[in-house]
Amino acid sequence: MIRFIEDKDEKRKISREVLEALKEWFEVDESREQYIRESADQPFWAAYENDVPAGFLCLKETGKETMELAVMGVKKDFHRHGFGRKLFAAAKAYASVNGYDFIQVKTVRSGVYEDYDITNEFYKSLGFKELEVFEEYWDAANPCQIYVMSLKSAIETMKARHSYRGAFVQEPVPREDLIAIANAGINAPSGCNKQTTELVIVDDKEMLEKIKALIDPPVAKTAPAMIVVLSKRINAYRDKCFATQDYSAAIENMLLAIVELGYQSCWYEGHITDDDRICDRIAEVLGVPGDLGVVCILPVGKALEDFKVPPKKAFEERVSFNRFGEK
Ligand SMILES: Cc1cc2nc3c(=O)[nH]c(=O)nc-3n(C[C@H](O)[C@H](O)[C@H](O)COP(=O)(O)O)c2cc1C
Repeated sequence: MIRFIEDKDEKRKISREVLEALKEWFEVDESREQYIRESADQPFWAAYENDVPAGFLCLKETGKETMELAVMGVKKDFHRHGFGRKLFAAAKAYASVNGYDFIQVKTVRSGVYEDYDITNEFYKSLGFKELEVFEEYWDAANPCQIYVMSLKSAIETMKARHSYRGAFVQEPVPREDLIAIANAGINAPSGCNKQTTELVIVDDKEMLEKIKALIDPPVAKTAPAMIVVLSKRINAYRDKCFATQDYSAAIENMLLAIVELGYQSCWYEGHITDDDRICDRIAEVLGVPGDLGVVCILPVGKALEDFKVPPKKAFEERVSFNRFGEK
């Protein structure tokens, strides 16, 4: 069980309990006390087993685009229970959702102390890459290895994307970001390159209100911008129409671009194309010509709330190797 801790006293209590149990790694009183003090003001996650704190992790902003894994510890009795990985996954998701591009972590480089060799292997197994060793950063006996991880690879962005249905921060989305998102959409593949998907970016307050007023029950009520996805149902070849595949590829590209730029969204299609045909009324308000239909709306904005991660079936349930059902 991983919990995000906000209470400062609780943070100090947990970090003290864990770090004092890990003196092999945190033996210098002064620096251990500094970690404990600083943890109170940092994003902080604790891992629990039967309500007993097993470990914790703190992040610290070291640059506008970079978070540092400031300190992390798991009590020895709880090593190899997967807590380190779970703590890191929670911290990484937080950094990614909050628009950071990199996570860095510092440790004593491999080949100096056995305990730290294990730490190096752990960071590498999480996906950290060696950036540089600074021999004198701490002191000559403790050469500092800096590891870095990009949060902006396509695969990381896919892992970070989840449907967001909460409230949005009330600030406009810059046009350059909306253009980057729309470009991601129109650069998607399309059957026979027919490019059947078109978009209307809505960031005008009055127009946004008109569209939101049509959506009942309401969704994306507080979104500061929206991308309305239009589709032209023409045949790509013979009687084959790939318009649905075309706009699906465009939507997924845009959802990924939205997350990569630090915003959140949700693919609202079912809700607006249902029997009450909200999509047709949106098309009318936007002046969409008759050969195009509104198929989806994507709100765009910064998240004000946490999002819920829906359960997904296990990999083995959905993926086989070489022959259906083979692991
Ligand atoms: C074709 C399609 C239609 C969707 N329509 C809606 C919708 O009308 N309302 C909604 O809240 N979510 C809608 N979604 C989002 C799905 O509910 C969501 O992707 C799914 O629950 C998995 O969650 P995830 O996106 O967080 O992985 C739609 C998704 C797809 C692909």
